[in-house]
Amino acid sequence: MSFFKRKKQITENRTLPTHIAIIMDGNGRWAKKRSLPRTAGHAAGSKKFKEIARYCNKIGIKYLTVYAFSTENWRRPKEEVDAIMNIFRDYLKDSANFKSENIMLKFIGDRSGMPEDIIKLMAQAEYDSKDATGLRVYMAINYGGRDELVHALRDIVREAIPAEEITEDTISSHIYTREYPDPELIIRPSGEYRLSNFLIWQSAYSEFWFSDVLWPDFSSDDLERAIDDYNKRNRRFGGV
Ligand code: FPP
Repeated sequence: MSFFKRKKQITENRTLPTHIAIIMDGNGRWAKKRSLPRTAGHAAGSKKFKEIARYCNKIGIKYLTVYAFSTENWRRPKEEVDAIMNIFRDYLKDSANFKSENIMLKFIGDRSGMPEDIIKLMAQAEYDSKDATGLRVYMAINYGGRDELVHALRDIVREAIPAEEITEDTISSHIYTREYPDPELIIRPSGEYRLSNFLIWQSAYSEFWFSDVLWPDFSSDDLERAIDDYNKRNRRFGGV
């Protein structure tokens, strides 16, 4: 069957995940393979993120969460952290592009730990895109799953919710992702097989899809393969 026909068939018969989450990994190795500085890998990763977000919007995915910077990434050399922050700045200043494409942009994570000017740019990007009705992109910046649960628990205690009234829903409604559904599909490229503190509460029933491709080389065809494989999985949620 030709690639075009196969693609058409997948489009017509498949179930699209409502929410896809991606760990954008492998930027450093991608750069090293090309004898480029690691920061060039992050720049290529940022470009790839825009491309994949547009593709998700085109095929009708509702939510895309991407892991852009973890609470642990501050441990990297200062030059690398500074370069990633500059990539965020450039991207955020340019994020009006997303608005014109009807893509909403929001952030999850502890933004209070980010540089002051970036916090403002993040708020501006959220405001500018708030009326978009297409894909909702949630970018995880200074995000850690354990840190998220710590913040949620602090809020629950501050609200003085009695212990016996605390349920799973209480936690789900106090985490950063409270306004949107858990991811059905989590993608990690670059040959690593771990969650690295990403969406640890939300991933309880997620399907995982791994690939050896480094993030800057990830393509819409890889995304299609992930969705295709997701369609072959038998999701039982603990039932039979
Ligand atoms: C992981 O690759 C990547 C990061 C820690 C940073 C991700 C940042 C980007 C993709 C740029 C984000 C910007 C926007 C606007 C989305 P790695 O450095 O751990 O790669 P390696 O494992 O090969 O060293």
